[in-house]
Amino acid sequence: MHSRHPWRESTDNFRDPEVISGTGSERSVPGGIPGAGTDEEVRTLSAELLVRLQDAHAFDPAPRHADLWRHHVPFDAMKGTGRCEAALDRALRRGERVALVGQSGAGKSSVTAHVLGPLVEGLAPLAVPVAIEDRSIAVDPVAFAGHVVQTVARYVRHAHPADQGRVDRIVKGRTPRRLSKLSITPQWLGASVELTAELASASAADPARRPGQEVIEQAREILDVIASHGLRPVLVLDDTDTWLSGIAGTEAAQIRAGFFGRITRLLAEELAHAAVLAVHENYLRTAEYSRSSGFIDTTIRLPAVPDAAAIGAILEHRVGQQVRRFTLDQVITADALERLLAHYQRGRGRDIRRRVLYVAHTALARACDDAAETIQAVHIDVAISECAPEVAARVRPAPRRDPARG
Ligand SMILES: Nc1ncnc2c1ncn2[C@@H]1O[C@H](COP(=O)(O)OP(=O)(O)O)[C@@H](O)[C@H]1O
Ligand SMILES: [Mg+2]
Repeated sequence: MHSRHPWRESTDNFRDPEVISGTGSERSVPGGIPGAGTDEEVRTLSAELLVRLQDAHAFDPAPRHADLWRHHVPFDAMKGTGRCEAALDRALRRGERVALVGQSGAGKSSVTAHVLGPLVEGLAPLAVPVAIEDRSIAVDPVAFAGHVVQTVARYVRHAHPADQGRVDRIVKGRTPRRLSKLSITPQWLGASVELTAELASASAADPARRPGQEVIEQAREILDVIASHGLRPVLVLDDTDTWLSGIAGTEAAQIRAGFFGRITRLLAEELAHAAVLAVHENYLRTAEYSRSSGFIDTTIRLPAVPDAAAIGAILEHRVGQQVRRFTLDQVITADALERLLAHYQRGRGRDIRRRVLYVAHTALARACDDAAETIQAVHIDVAISECAPEVAARVRPAPRRDPARG
Protein backbone atom coordinates (compact mmCIF):
# COMPACT_ATOMS: atom_id res chain seq x y z
CA MET A 1 0.00 0.00 0.00
CA HIS A 2 2.88 2.37 0.73
CA SER A 3 4.02 2.31 -2.88
CA ARG A 4 0.70 3.94 -3.79
CA HIS A 5 1.45 6.76 -1.39
CA PRO A 6 4.79 8.29 -2.35
CA TRP A 7 4.50 11.07 0.25
CA ARG A 8 4.94 8.48 2.98
CA GLU A 9 8.48 7.51 2.02
CA SER A 10 10.34 10.11 4.01
CA THR A 11 8.73 9.29 7.33
CA ASP A 12 8.52 5.51 7.17
CA ASN A 13 10.31 3.15 9.51
CA PHE A 14 11.22 5.53 12.29
CA ARG A 15 10.02 5.19 15.83
CA ASP A 16 11.22 8.13 17.87
CA PRO A 17 9.70 11.55 17.44
CA GLU A 18 12.40 14.13 16.94
CA VAL A 19 11.52 17.78 16.97
CA ILE A 20 12.48 19.78 13.92
CA SER A 21 12.09 23.30 15.18
CA GLY A 22 13.27 24.64 18.50
CA THR A 23 16.47 24.12 20.41
CA GLY A 24 18.12 20.79 21.12
CA SER A 25 16.99 20.92 24.71
CA GLU A 26 13.39 20.77 23.55
CA ARG A 27 13.79 17.42 21.86
CA SER A 28 10.99 15.20 22.97
CA VAL A 29 13.10 12.06 22.93
CA PRO A 30 16.29 12.42 24.91
CA GLY A 31 18.75 9.85 23.71
CA GLY A 32 16.46 8.86 20.89
CA ILE A 33 17.23 5.15 20.91
CA PRO A 34 14.12 3.34 19.72
CA GLY A 35 12.67 0.99 22.30
CA ALA A 36 15.23 1.96 24.94
CA GLY A 37 12.75 3.41 27.44
CA THR A 38 10.43 1.62 29.82
CA ASP A 39 6.77 1.30 28.84
CA GLU A 40 5.97 4.23 31.11
CA GLU A 41 8.62 6.41 29.47
CA VAL A 42 7.44 5.54 25.97
CA ARG A 43 3.86 6.34 26.98
CA THR A 44 4.84 9.72 28.39
CA LEU A 45 6.87 10.53 25.29
CA SER A 46 3.97 9.75 22.97
CA ALA A 47 1.68 11.96 25.01
CA GLU A 48 4.36 14.65 24.83
CA LEU A 49 4.39 14.37 21.07
CA LEU A 50 0.64 15.09 20.99
CA VAL A 51 1.04 18.09 23.28
CA ARG A 52 3.79 19.39 21.06
CA LEU A 53 1.59 19.01 17.99
CA GLN A 54 -1.22 20.80 19.72
CA ASP A 55 1.05 23.65 20.80
CA ALA A 56 2.19 24.01 17.19
CA HIS A 57 -1.42 23.97 15.89
CA ALA A 58 -0.28 21.20 13.60
CA PHE A 59 -3.78 20.57 12.21
CA ASP A 60 -4.76 24.25 11.96
CA PRO A 61 -7.81 24.15 9.64
CA ALA A 62 -7.18 27.65 8.29
CA PRO A 63 -3.45 28.23 7.96
CA ARG A 64 -1.97 31.37 6.45
CA HIS A 65 -2.45 31.51 2.71
CA ALA A 66 1.31 31.77 2.28
CA ASP A 67 1.74 28.38 4.00
CA LEU A 68 -0.87 26.39 2.05
CA TRP A 69 1.61 24.98 -0.44
CA ARG A 70 3.64 23.43 2.40
CA HIS A 71 0.65 21.48 3.69
CA HIS A 72 -0.56 20.20 0.35
CA VAL A 73 -0.75 16.51 -0.46
CA PRO A 74 -1.49 16.25 -4.19
CA PHE A 75 -4.86 14.76 -5.04
CA ASP A 76 -3.08 13.22 -8.02
CA ALA A 77 -0.86 11.25 -5.61
CA MET A 78 -3.85 10.20 -3.47
CA LYS A 79 -5.74 8.94 -6.47
CA GLY A 80 -2.97 7.83 -8.78
CA THR A 81 -4.20 10.07 -11.62
CA GLY A 82 -3.07 13.26 -13.30
CA ARG A 83 -6.47 14.94 -13.40
CA CYS A 84 -6.03 17.58 -10.74
CA GLU A 85 -2.66 19.25 -10.06
CA ALA A 86 -1.01 17.93 -13.24
CA ALA A 87 -4.04 18.93 -15.33
CA LEU A 88 -4.00 22.45 -13.89
CA ASP A 89 -0.29 22.78 -14.51
CA ARG A 90 -0.64 21.62 -18.14
CA ALA A 91 -3.59 23.90 -18.88
CA LEU A 92 -1.84 26.96 -17.44
CA ARG A 93 1.31 26.23 -19.41
CA ARG A 94 -0.88 26.15 -22.52
CA GLY A 95 -2.04 29.65 -21.55
CA GLU A 96 -5.65 28.67 -20.79
CA ARG A 97 -8.34 30.09 -18.56
CA VAL A 98 -9.06 27.42 -15.97
CA ALA A 99 -11.98 27.11 -13.54
CA LEU A 100 -11.05 25.18 -10.42
CA VAL A 101 -14.35 24.00 -9.01
CA GLY A 102 -15.08 22.88 -5.46
CA GLN A 103 -16.98 23.69 -2.28
CA SER A 104 -15.51 25.84 0.47
CA GLY A 105 -12.74 23.94 2.17
CA ALA A 106 -12.36 21.39 -0.63
CA GLY A 107 -8.84 22.55 -1.48
CA LYS A 108 -9.09 25.10 -4.32
CA SER A 109 -6.57 27.49 -2.78
CA SER A 110 -4.40 24.59 -1.66
CA VAL A 111 -4.19 23.09 -5.17
CA THR A 112 -3.46 26.51 -6.65
CA ALA A 113 -0.77 27.15 -4.05
CA HIS A 114 0.80 23.77 -4.84
CA VAL A 115 0.83 24.26 -8.62
CA LEU A 116 1.97 27.90 -8.41
CA GLY A 117 4.03 27.62 -5.23
CA PRO A 118 7.42 29.21 -4.63
CA LEU A 119 9.25 26.27 -6.20
CA VAL A 120 7.42 26.42 -9.53
CA GLU A 121 9.47 27.07 -12.64
CA GLY A 122 8.40 28.87 -15.78
CA LEU A 123 5.08 30.17 -14.42
CA ALA A 124 4.67 33.67 -13.06
CA PRO A 125 1.60 33.79 -10.81
CA LEU A 126 0.02 37.16 -10.14
CA ALA A 127 -2.48 37.04 -7.30
CA VAL A 128 -5.31 39.46 -8.12
CA PRO A 129 -7.74 39.81 -5.23
CA VAL A 130 -11.20 40.58 -6.59
CA ALA A 131 -13.46 40.39 -3.54
CA ILE A 132 -12.35 43.73 -2.17
CA GLU A 133 -14.17 46.84 -1.12
CA ASP A 134 -14.22 48.42 -4.56
CA ARG A 135 -16.91 46.26 -6.14
CA SER A 136 -16.32 47.72 -9.62
CA ILE A 137 -13.13 45.65 -9.88
CA ALA A 138 -15.20 42.46 -9.98
CA VAL A 139 -17.62 43.65 -12.65
CA ASP A 140 -16.03 46.36 -14.79
CA PRO A 141 -13.27 45.27 -17.21
CA VAL A 142 -11.50 48.64 -17.11
CA ALA A 143 -11.52 48.73 -13.31
CA PHE A 144 -10.26 45.14 -13.26
CA ALA A 145 -7.47 45.91 -15.75
CA GLY A 146 -6.49 48.97 -13.69
CA HIS A 147 -6.41 46.79 -10.61
CA VAL A 148 -4.04 44.35 -12.37
CA VAL A 149 -1.77 47.28 -13.27
CA GLN A 150 -1.78 48.57 -9.71
CA THR A 151 -1.19 45.12 -8.28
CA VAL A 152 1.92 44.76 -10.43
CA ALA A 153 3.03 48.30 -9.57
CA ARG A 154 2.80 47.36 -5.90
CA TYR A 155 4.77 44.16 -6.44
CA VAL A 156 7.45 46.14 -8.25
CA ARG A 157 7.74 48.72 -5.48
CA HIS A 158 8.45 45.95 -3.01
CA ALA A 159 10.94 44.12 -5.23
CA HIS A 160 14.62 44.79 -4.73
CA PRO A 161 14.13 47.26 -1.90
CA ALA A 162 17.88 47.34 -1.35
CA ASP A 163 18.50 48.92 -4.78
CA GLN A 164 15.63 51.35 -4.51
CA GLY A 165 16.45 52.45 -1.02
CA ARG A 166 20.17 53.00 -1.57
CA VAL A 167 19.94 56.63 -2.72
CA ASP A 168 17.50 57.53 0.03
CA ARG A 169 19.75 56.08 2.65
CA ILE A 170 22.84 57.92 1.40
CA VAL A 171 21.16 61.26 0.89
CA LYS A 172 18.87 61.42 3.87
CA GLY A 173 20.55 59.00 6.23
CA ARG A 174 17.24 57.24 6.71
CA THR A 175 17.00 53.64 7.71
CA PRO A 176 14.85 51.87 5.14
CA ARG A 177 11.74 50.19 6.41
CA ARG A 178 12.07 46.46 6.69
CA LEU A 179 10.36 45.78 3.40
CA SER A 180 11.46 42.17 3.27
CA LYS A 181 9.15 41.45 6.15
CA LEU A 182 6.18 43.12 4.48
CA SER A 183 7.12 42.04 1.02
CA ILE A 184 4.46 40.50 -1.13
CA THR A 185 6.84 40.14 -4.04
CA PRO A 186 6.46 36.82 -5.80
CA GLN A 187 9.60 34.73 -6.13
CA TRP A 188 9.79 35.02 -9.93
CA LEU A 189 9.83 38.81 -9.79
CA GLY A 190 12.43 39.07 -7.07
CA ALA A 191 14.78 36.98 -9.23
CA SER A 192 15.23 39.41 -12.13
CA VAL A 193 16.20 43.07 -11.83
CA GLU A 194 15.69 43.60 -15.58
CA LEU A 195 12.14 42.26 -15.48
CA THR A 196 11.41 44.42 -12.44
CA ALA A 197 12.68 47.50 -14.26
CA GLU A 198 10.57 46.78 -17.35
CA LEU A 199 7.49 46.16 -15.24
CA ALA A 200 8.14 49.35 -13.28
CA SER A 201 8.02 51.32 -16.49
CA ALA A 202 5.01 49.44 -17.90
CA SER A 203 3.03 50.02 -14.71
CA ALA A 204 4.19 53.61 -14.09
CA ALA A 205 1.25 55.42 -15.72
CA ASP A 206 -1.68 55.79 -13.31
CA PRO A 207 -4.62 53.86 -14.76
CA ALA A 208 -7.07 56.22 -13.07
CA ARG A 209 -5.95 59.00 -15.42
CA ARG A 210 -6.15 57.05 -18.68
CA PRO A 211 -8.99 56.23 -21.05
CA GLY A 212 -10.45 52.75 -20.59
CA GLN A 213 -9.06 51.08 -23.67
CA GLU A 214 -5.54 52.27 -22.81
CA VAL A 215 -5.81 50.76 -19.35
CA ILE A 216 -6.72 47.39 -20.81
CA GLU A 217 -3.77 47.67 -23.22
CA GLN A 218 -1.51 48.60 -20.33
CA ALA A 219 -2.52 45.45 -18.43
CA ARG A 220 -2.00 43.36 -21.55
CA GLU A 221 1.43 44.94 -22.10
CA ILE A 222 2.46 44.08 -18.54
CA LEU A 223 1.58 40.44 -19.10
CA ASP A 224 3.43 40.50 -22.45
CA VAL A 225 6.55 41.87 -20.70
CA ILE A 226 6.48 38.92 -18.30
CA ALA A 227 6.03 36.50 -21.22
CA SER A 228 8.93 38.10 -23.09
CA HIS A 229 11.18 36.97 -20.23
CA GLY A 230 10.32 33.34 -20.92
CA LEU A 231 7.74 33.14 -18.14
CA ARG A 232 4.09 32.22 -18.49
CA PRO A 233 2.09 34.87 -16.58
CA VAL A 234 -0.87 33.41 -14.66
CA LEU A 235 -3.56 35.63 -13.16
CA VAL A 236 -4.82 34.00 -9.97
CA LEU A 237 -8.38 34.85 -8.93
CA ASP A 238 -8.77 32.87 -5.76
CA ASP A 239 -11.33 34.75 -3.68
CA THR A 240 -14.44 34.69 -5.87
CA ASP A 241 -16.56 32.63 -3.46
CA THR A 242 -17.31 35.61 -1.23
CA TRP A 243 -20.17 36.53 -3.58
CA LEU A 244 -22.04 33.52 -2.35
CA SER A 245 -22.84 34.82 1.08
CA GLY A 246 -22.21 37.82 3.27
CA ILE A 247 -23.72 40.31 0.84
CA ALA A 248 -27.38 40.75 -0.07
CA GLY A 249 -28.68 38.20 -2.56
CA THR A 250 -29.49 40.48 -5.49
CA GLU A 251 -26.25 42.38 -5.16
CA ALA A 252 -24.28 39.13 -5.04
CA ALA A 253 -26.08 37.91 -8.17
CA GLN A 254 -25.25 41.16 -9.96
CA ILE A 255 -21.60 40.87 -9.05
CA ARG A 256 -21.51 37.25 -10.23
CA ALA A 257 -23.18 38.19 -13.50
CA GLY A 258 -20.66 40.96 -14.10
CA PHE A 259 -17.71 38.86 -13.12
CA PHE A 260 -18.57 35.69 -15.02
CA GLY A 261 -19.87 37.63 -18.02
CA ARG A 262 -17.45 40.52 -18.49
CA ILE A 263 -14.29 39.72 -16.56
CA THR A 264 -13.88 36.18 -17.91
CA ARG A 265 -14.34 37.63 -21.40
CA LEU A 266 -11.65 40.23 -20.74
CA LEU A 267 -9.32 37.49 -19.49
CA ALA A 268 -9.91 35.35 -22.57
CA GLU A 269 -10.13 37.88 -25.37
CA GLU A 270 -8.24 41.01 -24.38
CA LEU A 271 -5.64 40.00 -21.82
CA ALA A 272 -5.29 36.59 -23.51
CA HIS A 273 -2.96 35.01 -20.96
CA ALA A 274 -3.38 32.14 -18.54
CA ALA A 275 -5.66 32.51 -15.53
CA VAL A 276 -6.98 30.27 -12.79
CA LEU A 277 -10.32 31.06 -11.14
CA ALA A 278 -11.50 29.43 -7.96
CA VAL A 279 -15.17 28.66 -8.57
CA HIS A 280 -17.48 27.62 -5.76
CA GLU A 281 -19.45 24.54 -6.79
CA ASN A 282 -22.76 26.26 -6.10
CA TYR A 283 -22.00 28.80 -8.83
CA LEU A 284 -22.19 26.13 -11.52
CA ARG A 285 -25.95 25.92 -11.27
CA THR A 286 -26.49 29.66 -11.56
CA ALA A 287 -27.47 31.54 -14.72
CA GLU A 288 -24.69 34.04 -13.99
CA TYR A 289 -22.02 31.38 -14.24
CA SER A 290 -23.23 30.23 -17.64
CA ARG A 291 -22.20 33.64 -18.99
CA SER A 292 -18.59 32.52 -18.73
CA SER A 293 -19.11 29.69 -21.18
CA GLY A 294 -16.82 30.13 -24.13
CA PHE A 295 -14.31 32.08 -22.03
CA ILE A 296 -13.25 29.21 -19.76
CA ASP A 297 -11.10 26.64 -21.59
CA THR A 298 -10.73 23.99 -18.91
CA THR A 299 -12.79 23.06 -15.87
CA ILE A 300 -11.18 20.99 -13.14
CA ARG A 301 -13.36 19.65 -10.37
CA LEU A 302 -11.59 18.94 -7.14
CA PRO A 303 -11.68 15.22 -6.37
CA ALA A 304 -12.77 13.82 -3.03
CA VAL A 305 -10.18 12.46 -0.63
CA PRO A 306 -10.49 8.78 -1.58
CA ASP A 307 -9.74 6.74 1.56
CA ALA A 308 -8.52 6.64 5.14
CA ALA A 309 -4.92 6.29 3.98
CA ALA A 310 -5.22 9.61 2.15
CA ILE A 311 -6.74 11.29 5.22
CA GLY A 312 -3.80 9.84 7.12
CA ALA A 313 -1.41 11.25 4.54
CA ILE A 314 -2.82 14.76 4.97
CA LEU A 315 -2.38 14.56 8.74
CA GLU A 316 1.01 12.86 8.45
CA HIS A 317 2.22 15.64 6.19
CA ARG A 318 1.17 18.22 8.80
CA VAL A 319 2.90 16.29 11.58
CA GLY A 320 6.00 16.00 9.41
CA GLN A 321 6.38 19.79 9.51
CA GLN A 322 6.72 19.70 13.28
CA VAL A 323 8.67 16.50 13.98
CA ARG A 324 11.01 14.60 11.77
CA ARG A 325 10.86 11.01 12.94
CA PHE A 326 7.56 9.44 13.72
CA THR A 327 5.07 7.02 12.34
CA LEU A 328 1.46 8.00 11.89
CA ASP A 329 0.29 5.32 14.35
CA GLN A 330 2.12 7.24 17.08
CA VAL A 331 -0.28 10.11 16.44
CA ILE A 332 -3.62 8.59 15.47
CA THR A 333 -5.09 5.10 15.42
CA ALA A 334 -6.39 3.37 12.28
CA ASP A 335 -9.88 3.32 13.84
CA ALA A 336 -9.78 7.04 14.39
CA LEU A 337 -8.78 7.61 10.77
CA GLU A 338 -11.71 5.49 9.59
CA ARG A 339 -14.02 7.51 11.83
CA LEU A 340 -12.65 10.72 10.35
CA LEU A 341 -13.10 9.41 6.81
CA ALA A 342 -16.72 8.44 7.54
CA HIS A 343 -17.39 11.93 8.90
CA TYR A 344 -15.80 13.53 5.84
CA GLN A 345 -17.90 11.36 3.52
CA ARG A 346 -21.13 12.13 5.37
CA GLY A 347 -20.68 15.78 4.44
CA ARG A 348 -21.75 16.46 0.90
CA GLY A 349 -19.20 19.18 0.37
CA ARG A 350 -15.82 17.42 0.34
CA ASP A 351 -14.92 19.99 2.95
CA ILE A 352 -11.43 19.12 4.16
CA ARG A 353 -11.20 22.27 6.25
CA ARG A 354 -14.21 21.59 8.47
CA ARG A 355 -14.72 17.86 8.14
CA VAL A 356 -11.12 16.68 8.45
CA LEU A 357 -8.80 19.33 9.86
CA TYR A 358 -11.15 21.10 12.25
CA VAL A 359 -12.21 17.75 13.68
CA ALA A 360 -8.63 16.45 13.86
CA HIS A 361 -7.50 19.70 15.48
CA THR A 362 -10.23 19.40 18.12
CA ALA A 363 -9.65 15.67 18.62
CA LEU A 364 -5.96 16.37 19.21
CA ALA A 365 -6.88 18.79 21.98
CA ARG A 366 -9.21 16.23 23.57
CA ALA A 367 -6.53 13.54 23.38
CA CYS A 368 -4.16 15.93 25.15
CA ASP A 369 -6.80 16.62 27.82
CA ASP A 370 -6.91 12.86 28.41
CA ALA A 371 -3.10 12.62 28.41
CA ALA A 372 -3.67 9.95 25.78
CA GLU A 373 -0.85 8.41 23.79
CA THR A 374 -2.61 8.75 20.47
CA ILE A 375 -5.74 10.27 19.01
CA GLN A 376 -8.34 7.52 19.27
CA ALA A 377 -11.79 6.96 17.79
CA VAL A 378 -13.39 8.28 20.99
CA HIS A 379 -11.57 11.59 20.58
CA ILE A 380 -12.81 11.88 17.01
CA ASP A 381 -16.38 11.23 18.22
CA VAL A 382 -16.14 13.91 20.89
CA ALA A 383 -14.61 16.31 18.40
CA ILE A 384 -17.40 15.67 15.89
CA SER A 385 -19.99 16.40 18.55
CA GLU A 386 -18.22 19.68 19.32
CA CYS A 387 -17.56 20.69 15.71
CA ALA A 388 -20.83 19.59 14.13
CA PRO A 389 -23.42 18.82 16.81
CA GLU A 390 -26.21 18.13 14.31
CA VAL A 391 -24.19 15.34 12.71
CA ALA A 392 -23.15 13.87 16.03
CA ALA A 393 -26.77 13.76 17.20
CA ARG A 394 -27.64 11.53 14.27
CA VAL A 395 -24.64 9.25 14.58
CA ARG A 396 -24.00 9.09 18.30
CA PRO A 397 -27.13 9.59 20.42
CA ALA A 398 -25.21 10.11 23.67
CA PRO A 399 -22.13 12.29 23.16
CA ARG A 400 -19.61 11.90 25.95
CA ARG A 401 -19.33 14.90 28.25
CA ASP A 402 -16.17 15.52 30.16
CA PRO A 403 -17.29 16.63 33.63
CA ALA A 404 -13.99 18.47 34.14
CA ARG A 405 -14.89 20.78 31.27
CA GLY A 406 -18.54 21.24 32.23
N1 LIG B 1 -4.88 18.06 -0.96
C1 LIG B 1 -4.72 18.60 0.25
N2 LIG B 1 -3.70 18.20 1.04
C2 LIG B 1 -3.54 18.73 2.27
N3 LIG B 1 -4.33 19.66 2.80
C3 LIG B 1 -5.36 20.10 2.06
C4 LIG B 1 -5.61 19.60 0.76
N4 LIG B 1 -6.70 20.22 0.27
C5 LIG B 1 -7.12 21.07 1.21
N5 LIG B 1 -6.31 21.02 2.29
C6 LIG B 1 -6.43 21.81 3.52
O1 LIG B 1 -7.82 22.05 3.72
C7 LIG B 1 -8.05 23.41 4.12
C8 LIG B 1 -8.97 24.07 3.12
O2 LIG B 1 -8.33 24.16 1.86
P1 LIG B 1 -8.50 25.44 0.91
O3 LIG B 1 -7.60 25.24 -0.25
O4 LIG B 1 -8.33 26.68 1.72
O5 LIG B 1 -10.03 25.27 0.46
P2 LIG B 1 -10.87 26.22 -0.51
O6 LIG B 1 -9.94 27.20 -1.14
O7 LIG B 1 -11.48 25.28 -1.53
O8 LIG B 1 -11.92 26.85 0.36
C9 LIG B 1 -6.68 24.04 4.24
O9 LIG B 1 -6.28 23.97 5.59
C10 LIG B 1 -5.78 23.17 3.40
O10 LIG B 1 -4.46 23.15 3.92
MG1 LIG C 1 -9.86 29.28 -1.02
